[in-house]
Formats: sequence, structure tokens, C-alpha cells
Amino acid sequence: MSKTDYDGPIHHDYARGRALKAEQYAAWADAFAQHLPRRRPLDGLDLGSGTGRFSPLLADTFGPVVGVEPSAGMRETAERSSAHEDVRYVPGCAEEIPLEDDSVDYCLMFLAWHHVADPERGAAEIARVLRPGGVLLCRAQFSDLMPDLWWLRHFPHGDEVDAAMYRPLSEEIDIFSGSGLVPSPGLVRVEMPPVETKGDVFERLRLRTLSTLVRMPEEDFAAGIAALEVEVAKEPEAIVPPETITLLVMSKPEETSAQS
Ligand SMILES: C[S@@+](CC[C@H](N)C(=O)[O-])C[C@H]1O[C@@H](n2cnc3c(N)ncnc32)[C@H](O)[C@@H]1O
Repeated sequence: MSKTDYDGPIHHDYARGRALKAEQYAAWADAFAQHLPRRRPLDGLDLGSGTGRFSPLLADTFGPVVGVEPSAGMRETAERSSAHEDVRYVPGCAEEIPLEDDSVDYCLMFLAWHHVADPERGAAEIARVLRPGGVLLCRAQFSDLMPDLWWLRHFPHGDEVDAAMYRPLSEEIDIFSGSGLVPSPGLVRVEMPPVETKGDVFERLRLRTLSTLVRMPEEDFAAGIAALEVEVAKEPEAIVPPETITLLVMSKPEETSAQS
């Protein structure tokens, strides 16, 4: 299966195709805050920051952020459209994070972990740059916990294409644990407020900025979009069902002084 090429056409439409509403941002900020240390400011890492969808929110809510992103197209879009005085975007990737040891209080990976080609090395790098007590917020899908998405049903083999991109939850926890991170608490579920209409979602999906849609054959994408358009035309203003989203939370243990 081909990788998603974020330097291809996708970066032009990504920000519109993956736009979030204010209520959704607020729900994410609340969810992250529940698992992060209470002091402010916190030094943040947005790993796989893309077009900077989350970096300014993190900076406003918690403190200065470094967005690390391997795709020049995505990063340049972030620099143009998600500029913020407390955010800097730098080239890099999970396998080689351009930051010092013990330099950040948290690392957000939002739908980027499944793109990491060498997850063991990525996990070791995340553990290296987190301070003791630092937190990994990994917003990911897991092949054994795939959501039943109302719109995906219209795409032939959509569920299979989607699930094939992810590993089971226990495997992901094992990978991070191998680098010394511990579940704290592990998997949590985040409720997204139902604020989008079917029409809103259709307009985003047709831009084909989701990896699942990029990876399916052209004819399956075309068939799915056509079927979805017919379905959405029946009630474009209907609010889509609320979504419950998986977030894996791991942390780097505090250092304990050696006992003699
Ligand atoms: C679905 S986008 C998510 C972007 C952003 N986190 C967001 O939620 O809008 C996935 C991002 O992961 C990046 N990515 C790909 N391989 C990566 C790696 N090895 N390490 C870090 N990020 C990577 C891609 O370039 C892309 O920008």
C-alpha cells in the first residue's frame, strides 16, 4: 500500500479538508488539559504538526510549542497560515526529533503516529525529548478499535482500507513501553460535540485529504463520493452523530533517586 505523500497535492487542501470548528478545538483543549501537568507554561512538541492545525491552540492554552514536521509543503503552509508568536515550525520527524534530551513537557502526535516508518525509533526519540513526568498524547486509531463512521460505509472496502493503516492498541502500548513510557492512564475516549452538518462533512471529504481516501483506488473513491453525495443531498443540514475518539496517553516516569 502506498504511503500518503504530504508533499503532493494534499497540502494545498489539507487545512480546509481537515478544518475543525471552535467547539471541537475547545473539546480537544479540555481533553489534553486533563492529562497534562497543571503548571503553566508548559513546553510543547507538536510532532507531525502538518499545517499547524493544533500548534496555535496548544500555544494559547499551555505555552510555547515546537511543531516538528517532515513535509516541506505542510510545514510551509503552517508557517503561512498558522503563524503564532509562541510557535516555531522546524523540519524533522519522529525518528529524528531535532530537540534536546528532556526538553518538553508533552508531545502531541495527532493522526501522525501511523505514518512513522520506524515506530520503535520514534518511541525512543519521544521518550528522549520528554522531561521526566512528561506526557505523550497520541491521537490515533487502532485496528482493533476502529470507529463505525457513517460516511465511510459508502466507500467500497472503506473499512478495510482504513483499518489496514493501524496496529492494535496493545501493540502500540508495547512499542511505547519498550522505550520506558507507561500508560497514564493509557486509552481514553474523547467526546466531540455534534456541531457539523452532513453537508459540512461532505465538502471536507470531497477534498480527499484523509489518508484513508488517498489510499483507496481511484474508482472506489469516485464511487464512494458519488454515493455519499446522494445520501447527503437528502438532508444536508442534518447534524452528524456525536463522535467518540480514541486518544492514547502515556508518560515518562519521574526520576526516582537510587536507594542504597
Ligand atoms: C494526518 S497529518 C496530521 C497533521 C496534524 N497533526 C493535524 O492533525 O492536522 C499527518 C502528518 O504526519 C506527518 N508525518 C509523516 N511521517 C512522519 C514522521 N515519521 N514523523 C512525524 N510526522 C510524520 C505528515 O507529513 C503529516 O503532516
